[in-house]
Amino acid sequence: MTPKLALTPPSRPRAERFRRGANAAYHRDCALNGERLRRRMTRYACTPGKMWPMEANPWLRESSIKVFTAEERPELWELARSLFEGIWPEYNHHGNYTGRYFGALVPRHARFQVLLYDTDKGCIAARGRAIPFRWDGSLEDLPAGIDAVGLRAVDDPRPPTALSALAAEVAGAQQGRGLSRLVIEAMAAAAREADLAPLVAPVRPSWKDRYPLTPIDRYAAWKRSDGLPLDPWLRVHARLGATILRSEPRSLQIEAPVAEWERWTEMTFPEDGEYVFPSGLAPLRVRDGIGHYWEPNVWMLHEL
Ligand SMILES: CC(C)(COP(=O)(O)OP(=O)(O)OC[C@H]1O[C@@H](n2cnc3c(N)ncnc32)[C@H](O)[C@@H]1OP(=O)(O)O)[C@@H](O)C(=O)NCCC(=O)NCCS
Repeated sequence: MTPKLALTPPSRPRAERFRRGANAAYHRDCALNGERLRRRMTRYACTPGKMWPMEANPWLRESSIKVFTAEERPELWELARSLFEGIWPEYNHHGNYTGRYFGALVPRHARFQVLLYDTDKGCIAARGRAIPFRWDGSLEDLPAGIDAVGLRAVDDPRPPTALSALAAEVAGAQQGRGLSRLVIEAMAAAAREADLAPLVAPVRPSWKDRYPLTPIDRYAAWKRSDGLPLDPWLRVHARLGATILRSEPRSLQIEAPVAEWERWTEMTFPEDGEYVFPSGLAPLRVRDGIGHYWEPNVWMLHEL
C-alpha cells in the first residue's frame, strides 16, 4: 500500500540501534525535540470537544510528527515492538488473556495500529493499538472489559461494526507534551476510514494507582472544578468529546503464583490477604499461594 506521507526509511545503523534495545539513546534524541513540540501544540490548541480529522489537523500539517499505520509502515511497527515495554509496570505485561488479542493485531488488523513518527529525529513518539469488534451499540452488549472485548474480537466470526482502543502509549521522553490526543485521533481516523463506528475505549485511568482502594465507578465520577474528569487520561478523552459509558472493576485479569507477583512488584506477600502494591489500580488479593488481580477500566465512547 502506498504510504499517505512518504518518508525516508530509517537508515540501517539506526534500525540496528533500535534492535539492540538502545532505548536510552533513542529517548535522549527524542527529548531534544520536546520544547519545539510543546510550542507547536500550544499554538494549535484544539477546540475542546472537537476531534480533528487527521488530514485537517493544522498542528499535524506543520509538525514533524507524522501518522502511519502498521499496514503502511510495517518496518516501523516492528521497531516499535520493544520500545514501549518500559512505560508499563511489570505486572501489566502478564495478563492472563492479553497475549491472545494483542497478539492478533498484526498483520490481521494492521490498518488499525497507529504510530506517531517524528520525521525530524527519526523517532517513534507514540503508538496506538486497537481492535475491531462487533457491537450492537447497547450497554447490554458492551463487553465486560478489555479482556472481553479482545476475546470477542478474536473469536467472533461475524463482521465487526465498531473499533475498540486497547492501548495508547507515548514514549517516555515524549510524555507530557500533549501527544496522547493525537493517538486517539489517529485511531478515530482509522475507524472512520474502515466505516467502523463508534470508537470505544476501556480506559486505564493514569492516576487510579494513587487511589487503589477507591471503587472505579466513584473514581471515574471525580471531577475538577472546570467539570472535566480529575484523572488526566480520562480528561484527554473527555476533551475530545468522549462520554463515559460505564466503569468496569473486572476488566483485565492477572492471576499468577505469589512468587511471580513478588518478583513483578518487588514486594513480599507473607500471608493471605489484600495488598496495595506499587502502580496497582486496585488491591491484589492473595489466597492459597495465588495472587488475584482485576484491573479496572472506564469505558468511554467517541461518537464518530
Ligand atoms: C497515558 C499517556 C498515553 C498520556 O500521554 P502523555 O503524553 O503522558 O499525556 P499528554 O501530554 O497528552 O497529557 C494528557 C493529560 O495528562 C496530563 N499529564 C501528562 N503528564 C502528566 C504528569 N506527569 N503529571 C500530571 N499530569 C500529567 C496533562 O496535563 C494532560 O491533561 P490536561 O490536558 O488536562 O492538562 C502516557 O502517559 C502513557 O503512555 N502512559 C503509559 C501507558 C498508559 O498508561 N496508557 C494509557 C492506558 S492505555
